[in-house]
Order: sequence, then C-alpha cells, then structure tokens
Amino acid sequence: MKINFAFLFLITGIVASRDMAFTGGTEELDPISKYNAQNNEKANVSFLLFTRRNPLKPDEIVLDNEESVENSEFNPQNPSRFLIHGWRGGPSDVINVLCQANYLARGDYNIFIVDWCPLASSSYLNATVNVREAGKQVAAFIDFLHRNHGLNLASTYIIGHSLGAHVAGITGKHVKRGRIRAIFGLDPAQPLFSIDRPNERLDANDAEYVENIHTNTAFKGFAKPIGDSSYYPNWGRRQPGCGADLLGSCSHERAVRYFAESLEGRSNFYGVQCESYGNIENMTCNIGVTVKMGGDLLDFKGSGVFYVPVGEKYPFAKGKIPYMHLFS
Ligand SMILES: *[C@@H]1O[C@H](CO)[C@@H](O)[C@H](O)[C@H]1NC(C)=O
Ligand SMILES: *[C@@H]1O[C@H](CO)[C@@H](O)[C@H](O)[C@H]1NC(C)=O
Ligand SMILES: *[C@@H]1O[C@H](CO)[C@@H](O)[C@H](O)[C@H]1NC(C)=O
Repeated sequence: MKINFAFLFLITGIVASRDMAFTGGTEELDPISKYNAQNNEKANVSFLLFTRRNPLKPDEIVLDNEESVENSEFNPQNPSRFLIHGWRGGPSDVINVLCQANYLARGDYNIFIVDWCPLASSSYLNATVNVREAGKQVAAFIDFLHRNHGLNLASTYIIGHSLGAHVAGITGKHVKRGRIRAIFGLDPAQPLFSIDRPNERLDANDAEYVENIHTNTAFKGFAKPIGDSSYYPNWGRRQPGCGADLLGSCSHERAVRYFAESLEGRSNFYGVQCESYGNIENMTCNIGVTVKMGGDLLDFKGSGVFYVPVGEKYPFAKGKIPYMHLFS
C-alpha cells in the first residue's frame, strides 16, 4: 500500500512539473534561476507589497529592515492580506495575479505576496519539509510589522493555495503577538500530510477563523474538513469543465479561481450545509441552510461542512438557488 502510493506520487511529481511548464505560471520572473534552489536550508522568504498606490511595481519589505517599511506604501490603517503560492509557484502564480487584482479593485489593502519559491521549488518532498521554515519566517515577518509598524492582526487574513495553505497554518501557529483573524486554505495539499498530525498542517486553531475550499479531494487536495468551515464545490473530488483531469491539476487550481471570483462581489457562491463530511462522500446534503463561500466579509460566516454548486467556466458562481428543491 505504502509502496504503491510512493510510486504513484513519483509519477505525479514528474507529470505535474510538466503541467507547470505548460501553464507558464512561474516562468516570467524565472524564479528558479533567481535563487539557488539547492541551497534551500538558509534561503529566505521574500515579501512583495502591492497597494492601490503601487499596483504594478511591488515594494519589497525585508524582515527587521525599518527602512524597507518606511520607504514602502505600507499603510497600517488598511487591512492586510498575505497570499501564499504552492509547490513550484512564485510571484507570478495565479493566486497572486488574480487575488491581488481583485482585492485592489475592491478597496485599499496591503497585499503581500509571500514568495517562498527558494524553499518550494525543489522536489515535492523537500518542499513539504520546508513548509515549516517558510511558515516560521512569515510569522516572524508579521510579528515584526505588528510590533514596529502597527499592522492590525484583527484585519489580517492569509490566503494559501495547496502547500501554501499549510504554510499559512504554520504561520498562524507561530505568530507570537496575537492571532491572525482568518486563513483561507485553497485546496490544501493532501500528499504527505495527515489528519492525525495537525501540528504539521493547516488546522482550525491556526486563526480565529479558518475556511477551506476543497476542489480536488480525488488526488491533490486534502479530503477531510480541517477548518472551521469546509466548502466542497461540486462535492470536492474534481471540478466541472476540467475534463478527465486524471492528475487533478485543473481541479486543484479551481479553488484559487473560485476564491478570486468570490472577491468580485458581482456573483456569489452559496454553500448548502451538510450534517457531516459523510454527506459529502455520499453526495447527500439537504439541511438547506445556505452560507456564502469565500469573499472578504467574515460576518455571518457559519461553521461546518458545505456543498457548493459551480459552473464549468468563469463566472463559476451560481448565485442563490432554492437548494431545498434540488435535494428533496
Ligand atoms: C536571510 O536573512 C538573514 C537575516 O536577515 C540574513 O542574515 C541571511 O543572510 C539571509 N540569507 C540569505 C540566503 O539570503
Ligand atoms: C532537497 O534539499 C536538500 C537540502 O536541503 C538538497 O541537498 C537536495 O538536493 C534537495 N533535493 C532535491 C530533489 O531538490
Ligand atoms: C450518507 O452519509 C450520511 C452521514 O454519514 C448518512 O447519515 C446517510 O445515511 C448516508 N446516505 C446514504 C444515501 O448513503
């Protein structure tokens, strides 16, 4: 059983890295040659800040470097959002591009792109080991901005995709000066993470509110609920419009696209609450309570497990639907 899994995983890694090459998501800045991926033990995470005053060219803020903050557009009056890419991602990853644009279209924010590429760009195994180091560095950075520059933890959220969701979790565990308000885990990675080892992964205690969107429980994404609320678009296994998607790359990325769309406020994703995760597995949810998935406002957020209907292509949201009729 274990051997089969490892073998499958090796194959996935090889094919997944080819997938990445095709999508071209990380090529623009050539992060792999920019950093020395092999020398990843002492490698540092970098932080790129975008605001409405500098939507095109980020300010780089360096841990414990006061000047880098003073010379930046960081404004502690505005809410802060940290975006964390996954394995082999980088600054131009889809989570950064879509969420940065949609947050800044929404309002004044400090949008931090967490570039942990030097720690995330080698083998998947190495990257999972490096999740802890990356999370600790993000936590130290948040404590620094809070202590010296007035960052408001009560209006700080972290959004992480795949392995980045676990980096967000480790960050939440290590912030010393208070608690992060919210973490959104976008299809948190499953391989090599376990429900039984919450210290190594994203967990409901890592922020005041933890919401996860599960879009590829068939393969790359974490299957079981590991937050306060867990949303399962299309029952979570894989996503409509993704074709056969045997390795799950398309479905895995959909979590990012759904979350980014939920920030637009134009259309809405509604989840229908289920009694338990078992109802997700057997595709029978009919409690009828509906709650919005994603978005930026945490009022009225429920806790529990939710099924979410979605479309095949953008815009994916289905708006409000009389769910009771669907499942009766
Ligand atoms: C990482 O940051 C520390 C502290 O700022 C610095 O001393 C060190 O040289 C950095 N390491 C690399 C590889 O840039
Ligand atoms: C994994 O990391 C170690 C050191 O951190 C490095 O020596 C090794 O080459 C890395 N493996 C791969 C496949 O990148
Ligand atoms: C589905 O799972 C739920 C929760 O485990 C269970 O109560 C219900 O009976 C199951 N329904 C079917 C049709 O299997």
